[in-house]
Amino acid sequence: MTTYEVFAPFYDRAIGDRGREGSYLHELIQKHFPEAATVLELACGTGAILEQLHSHYEVSGLDASRRMLDIAARKVPQSRLFREDMTRFDLGETFDVVLCVFDSINHLVRFGDWEAVFNRAREHLTDRGIFIFDVNTERKLASFASAPPWTQWFDDDSLLLIDVRDEGDGVYAWKLRVFEHRSGSGYRLHVEDIREAAFPLERIKESLAERFRRVRIYDAERSRPTTRSLRLHFVCGD
Ligand SMILES: C[S@@+](CC[C@H](N)C(=O)[O-])C[C@H]1O[C@@H](n2cnc3c(N)ncnc32)[C@H](O)[C@@H]1O
Repeated sequence: MTTYEVFAPFYDRAIGDRGREGSYLHELIQKHFPEAATVLELACGTGAILEQLHSHYEVSGLDASRRMLDIAARKVPQSRLFREDMTRFDLGETFDVVLCVFDSINHLVRFGDWEAVFNRAREHLTDRGIFIFDVNTERKLASFASAPPWTQWFDDDSLLLIDVRDEGDGVYAWKLRVFEHRSGSGYRLHVEDIREAAFPLERIKESLAERFRRVRIYDAERSRPTTRSLRLHFVCGD
């Protein structure tokens, strides 16, 4: 199912500066594969991360949403972009780093599809290549669902409202509502519903161990991952 077709034009303005994530990913790459020269980002969206990385690496990206990719093409003209499903793509080439970040993998609600991404990533790595992805943890999605909807102003007078609801079995509906300011007291409502799923850490680790010899797990907010972690980064390689 294609998502982000409605939210795409608001995405960068509503999410804001991504410099911190870009620097963190660059640090992880430098720590684990300092000679890396090529990066492929799965679910690259508007190219917010590719934009941060293109001065260090030759960057490529793929995404399912045409509107997100159109923005990425304008923002990061140095990148090669592909409209592909990250569970089934085959680009016929390999990369030093395959990335999938900002909880993009959570957008796949069946664990079998996460494993398809692990397989696709592995298939597209050079011999010493690394696959880096992050996840929203079960704890994070549950805490969002138990909190009231939250709002955020952007462009001074437009508003993003996010309401996360628990659908059961680890699946959550994200109701995105953009109230775009038009003129005077006029607003236009844009509606998009997205689903995310989280899975137990042990299940993710077991699945990765079947595919990669080395897996490191980081929490950017803590010295090491704990049961309180809200976002985890995985670095996988051989
Ligand atoms: C939260 S955005 C993250 C975008 C980007 N990685 C970033 O850091 O800003 C999630 C992205 O996943 C993409 N996506 C969701 N399911 C996908 C799939 N099966 N294949 C490719 N892209 C997908 C959406 O189109 C969207 O651009």
